[in-house]
Amino acid sequence: MWAKIEKKLGTFLICYFNVKKIGFAEREGFEPPEAFTSTVFKTAAIDHSATSPPQKYTYFIPFFFYTIFFYNYNILIYLQVICNCFISFYMTTITPIFRTLFLIIIAILLFSCEPKPPKDSFKTTPYELQIPKYFPTHLNIPTDNPLTVEGIELGRHLFYEERLCGYLGNDPDLMMGCATCHLQSNNFSVGMNHPRFPNGKTFGLAGDSTPHNTMSLMNLVFNREGYMWNGLIHESNPNYTQRNLEDIVLMTILAPHEMNSTPEKTVYALKQNPKYPPLFIKAFGTEEITIERVQKAIAQFIRTLVSGNSKFDRYLRKEEKLSDAEMRGFILFSTEEGADCFHCHGGDGTPLFTTNLFYNNALSTFHTDPHDRYAVTGNQFDIGAYRAPSLRNIMVSAPYMHDGRFKTIDEVLEFYNFGLQQSPHVHPLMHKVEQGGAYLTPPQIEDLKTFLNTLSDNEFLSNPKFAKP
Ligand code: HEC
Ligand code: HEC
Repeated sequence: MWAKIEKKLGTFLICYFNVKKIGFAEREGFEPPEAFTSTVFKTAAIDHSATSPPQKYTYFIPFFFYTIFFYNYNILIYLQVICNCFISFYMTTITPIFRTLFLIIIAILLFSCEPKPPKDSFKTTPYELQIPKYFPTHLNIPTDNPLTVEGIELGRHLFYEERLCGYLGNDPDLMMGCATCHLQSNNFSVGMNHPRFPNGKTFGLAGDSTPHNTMSLMNLVFNREGYMWNGLIHESNPNYTQRNLEDIVLMTILAPHEMNSTPEKTVYALKQNPKYPPLFIKAFGTEEITIERVQKAIAQFIRTLVSGNSKFDRYLRKEEKLSDAEMRGFILFSTEEGADCFHCHGGDGTPLFTTNLFYNNALSTFHTDPHDRYAVTGNQFDIGAYRAPSLRNIMVSAPYMHDGRFKTIDEVLEFYNFGLQQSPHVHPLMHKVEQGGAYLTPPQIEDLKTFLNTLSDNEFLSNPKFAKP
């Protein structure tokens, strides 16, 4: 009787461990050698409790080496193998009843130290964001969405995906992705010569105009003051769906003035494209396409859009010199007696070329926009205020201002030179508002413009890492 129980238990144990381990090995991407899985293992396992020792060794010896070679991820496996060898020796020396007891003890021990398969057996590669010299190092990356090489690659595909809006037909005017409005060559803004949006006047798939001019997507990972012209998207927003770049992705997909889609439509459309399952597996472990994953991947991609190699950056790093005109322009930019731009748009100490803060820069006398900074804070001082945009790559970011009112940089400079509009809401840092502008001479304006040109980062504007895959 004991011999029978022992035989059954022994056979079960051996089969169990073989099957388990082969299972692990396959999940880890190993192909167990045919000879071991089929002939040796199976026959040895079934004949295990036969008394002749040589048969046991034919099983245990190859098994031992096989284990060493293929399962070296867990020390427990070695212990199991050694236990197995012990079993085989003791089996031949003690009485059946003790052998069975011994087997039960071993079984309890082995089951309790059974190695768990790794929970997330897929691995992603952490992405090392290169922070240009003198840039802030405090980044806006949520802990639940760290940058990974695979996530960013998926994000790039999705950023350029024209079916993100959920449309499956063939009319190009009904397709829309992020890159429809955010073009790399235009600093990821819309630009003046867009075939679909002449003069940068964007509208969504429901036909409605966007409430504001398109913003550039650049150095956003350094912004912790709030996204959008009015900074609505900020971690302090009581609405948890409006706090970071991930949320902007979904808002864009839903907004009638943008993609006018639903999460279901968008996910369904993406599912029709066979290129996505492998990209989702690499980024998230399974091929499941969910709107949360889409949001995370695109947000990761946007966070890698770092511009920090303009001529001015090279000047700061002492790699290149500014011309006399560029230097004169820089001095005008950075002095209160000059054009006085630096308080809000930064300079050599704030090389993002923005403080990312909100100001009323004296554009208008009357403020009627329901989506200004005041709409977010309810603070009277914020009436007609907007986030000061970065002036990096400003030469390719037209049209300008939250409403896109200026089509050229000359118009902007003209405004700051003698077009300032007094109102009770103008920000105190607009020192020149009393006199209506900076009143620079035409050569000074030329110098200022020459300086602004040094903020263009052609490497960023044509970097293939950020381009359509
Ligand atoms: C129809 C044109 C359009 C499309 C398509 C579009 N955007 Fe935008 N985007 C805009 C406009 C307009 C703004 C400015 C919104 C505002 O503040 O009113 C903007 C602002 C943003 C901002 C804020 C930038 C900042 O500096 O605060 C981000 C981020 C952004 N978009 C990302 C995306 C992503 C991601 C997609 C694709 C999922 C996308 N956009 C698709 C027009 C568009
Ligand atoms: C008090 C802060 C402040 C000062 C000083 C200031 N700006 Fe601005 N600037 C802003 C704000 C805020 C905006 C966005 C306003 C809006 O869209 O309504 C802006 C917008 C701009 C834009 C358009 C950017 C875009 O992408 O649309 C340019 C160009 C610009 N400023 C250049 C300058 C120059 C040049 C000077 C110096 C002559 C200057 N600014 C001084 C706050 C300021």
